[in-house]
Amino acid sequence: MSKVYICDHPLIQHKLTFIRDERTNTKDFRELVDEVATLMAYEITRNIPLEKMEVNTPVGPVQGRVISGRMLGVIPILRAGLGMVDGILKLLPAAKVGHIGLYRDPETLKPVEYYVKLPTDVQERELIVIDPMLATGGSAIAALDLLKRKNCTQIKLMCLIAAPEGIRAVQEAHPDVDIYIAAIDEKLDDHGYIVPGLGDAGDRLFGTK
Ligand code: URA
Repeated sequence: MSKVYICDHPLIQHKLTFIRDERTNTKDFRELVDEVATLMAYEITRNIPLEKMEVNTPVGPVQGRVISGRMLGVIPILRAGLGMVDGILKLLPAAKVGHIGLYRDPETLKPVEYYVKLPTDVQERELIVIDPMLATGGSAIAALDLLKRKNCTQIKLMCLIAAPEGIRAVQEAHPDVDIYIAAIDEKLDDHGYIVPGLGDAGDRLFGTK
């Protein structure tokens, strides 16, 4: 079974509270999401391997350690996932970015792909899939299914807020994918919104409400 990591660093929790606040305007919301994404990138990369590298300081040689040539990929699920990409790239500037667009078919209620553009070597990369609001888990599961069909094997899922239902669904469908979350909320409402959550993440990021 995959692990669920709650990123409960005080800075993340502080910023998340203002992200949730309905009085937070679009500009501040976007900046706060960006900052939390950077802080979560720090947590999600905690265990990436290092290799030795010798450099000379002005005083003498030192055996340092650097990240060992990992090939990383950041895959936002459109559209709300876009809000966390730049914050992650601040710490992982060499990562490639792929996009997955999904909408929910009104009849079947199943996620349908409408846009997919991935790095050509995606299957060789360690991937961070971004789905800020893990509600039913339907979109995250569909995105993970798609990446596995393309032979991707090393995948982590990053979310801001999750409902317990969404976590359970992803863990059942993808027990190899660890989930990094800033908060687990109470439940879903009848419209699939996370309660208390933060409302519609895409609308709040892009000012479309
Ligand atoms: N997507 C959102 O943006 N918010 C929710 O609460 C659930 C899904």
